[in-house]
Amino acid sequence: MDGASKTDEYQARIEAALDRWLPALEIPPHRLHEAMRYSVLGGGKRIRPLLVYAAGEALGTDPALLDAPAVAIELMHAFSLVHDDLPAMDNDDLRRGRPTTHKAFDEATAILAADALQPLAFDVLCTDPALVPYADTQVALVHILAEACGSEGMTGGQAIDLASEGNRLEAAELEHMYRLKTGRLLRTSIMSAAACPPRPDLDGTHALERFSDYLGLAFQIRDDILDVEGETEVIGKQQGADEARSKATYPALFGMEQARARVAELLAAALHELDSFGSRADYLTYLARLIVERDH
Ligand code: IPE
Ligand code: IPE
Ligand code: MG
Ligand code: MG
Ligand code: MG
Repeated sequence: MDGASKTDEYQARIEAALDRWLPALEIPPHRLHEAMRYSVLGGGKRIRPLLVYAAGEALGTDPALLDAPAVAIELMHAFSLVHDDLPAMDNDDLRRGRPTTHKAFDEATAILAADALQPLAFDVLCTDPALVPYADTQVALVHILAEACGSEGMTGGQAIDLASEGNRLEAAELEHMYRLKTGRLLRTSIMSAAACPPRPDLDGTHALERFSDYLGLAFQIRDDILDVEGETEVIGKQQGADEARSKATYPALFGMEQARARVAELLAAALHELDSFGSRADYLTYLARLIVERDH
């Protein structure tokens, strides 16, 4: 099967799994559940779940074990986007081509919907029947997701992002912020597959960690490039929002040419790390390329 067909198949798989795990609209409190479903369903590239399944292919993991981490990571991602868009943070009105959750509902409901997505993510990891026979794996998955999203992970990165508005950062400081705010959750997608049986040996684990690190940086730089040169209708977010808020981004600090060169360099470094996996990593390679070449 080619990369595009695989993507369609895994996207359908993750959509169905997300729909199953999210509380039904009929269950009260209705408005909260409606906002949770709005924030997660109906849009989104599902890059993180796709990376979970792709890493699983490279490692020979049963995909049935990967549904729970794929869902949990996408729920955490959705929570982070709802908060990221709030007036107190990036103050954005458009996401995935639709009004942001606080615009479609109201601020309090958006905050609460995001609040509720977080514990749901951990509950999925603790209760998905496919993982229940693997208690050690469940604990490992909960741990790596919690760590990735905490104050030394995504949340810490978001704090640095906000504190950096209007500042001139060194490249190393900027990349540190990217590693935390975006890279850690991407890395968790790959390392969650590696936490499931059969687990890779130490060399394989380290190669995947390096791959994820390069890819996470490339992913955020590409996002920043699209904010500059994308079209609002295509990216589904307001073009130029970073410049309007004087965000510290790669294109703003170092220019487009250097941003593009850095993405190409990171992609090459990332793909090099997959060499030892041979053709089993074909889909992971396909996704890495898609991430740096994407138009939205
Ligand atoms: C957007 O992530 C937020 C960043 C970390 C740059 P995505 O580009 O994966 O957003 P969706 O889920 O496809 O909307
Ligand atoms: C978002 O970075 C990172 C997280 C949500 C953790 P951005 O602020 O650049 O993401 P977009 O551009 O709003 O999607
Ligand atoms: Mg932001
Ligand atoms: Mg934002
Ligand atoms: Mg952005």
